Amino acid sequence: MSEHEAAAQVLAGRLGGLRPRIGIILGSGLGGLAERIADAVTVPFSELPGMPRSTVAGHVGQFVIGRLGGREVIAMQGRLHSYEGHPYPALALPVRVMRAIGVETLFISNAAGSLKAEMGPGSLMAISDHLNWSGFNPLIGANDDAVGPRFVDMSNAYDRDLRARLHEAAAAEGIKLHEGVYAWYTGPNFETPAEIRAFRILGADAVGMSTVPECIAAVHCGMRVVAVSAITNLAAGMDRTTLSHEHTLAESRKLATRFERLVESFIAGLG
Ligand code: HPA
Repeated sequence: MSEHEAAAQVLAGRLGGLRPRIGIILGSGLGGLAERIADAVTVPFSELPGMPRSTVAGHVGQFVIGRLGGREVIAMQGRLHSYEGHPYPALALPVRVMRAIGVETLFISNAAGSLKAEMGPGSLMAISDHLNWSGFNPLIGANDDAVGPRFVDMSNAYDRDLRARLHEAAAAEGIKLHEGVYAWYTGPNFETPAEIRAFRILGADAVGMSTVPECIAAVHCGMRVVAVSAITNLAAGMDRTTLSHEHTLAESRKLATRFERLVESFIAGLG
């Protein structure tokens, strides 16, 4: 049995009759959404065989399974990042575990810096596409053909139809939702101003340290992905803000209620 199947088997035994088809990954400072999940069952990552621990402040490190917006969901409260030193495939593991228990749609969120002056802190951005210039990829290594193909089509990685529904949900809630390209930077340092200028030339609208490996893993195993960046700052060099994780958490918590309304309304509308 592969690693994700072993973990999925334990998780499936804890679902208490729930069959979530929607997975949610909660970014820095956005974990509060898990408190909106009704009839919640929590399963710490530490109870699942092979599952690495989340080591970052603001990332609890557990699955929360229950009901949100009238649908059964499984949320990852706390995620893994490449800068924590996990081996390539580890970042794919939680995504594959969710797939193995039946998840078909993955909602990914993150805190991010903005490369556009008009999309300042407090903005929400639907991710339309990404740039992976990190040299890192969770699919490097032997391919498990039972999970997905060796070569993965990423031309509709952030599903167009789901994104259209996300915009509808935002409009219905009166929430302004930007759209743009997310560039992945492994961190753990924030980018330099020169790197931000380079990313802008390459076509990035926002930058952050997550989401891309999870998106790649999800598309590989046949999930549909929708993703939102919570903008916590203008990217390095655009203003005089000193970037820090504390600043990211403080800013993402400020917009968390709006973010939660958007996610709940989107999920309720999935029908
Ligand atoms: N860069 C990378 N990651 C981030 C940023 C940023 O400016 N803001 C929040 N997460």
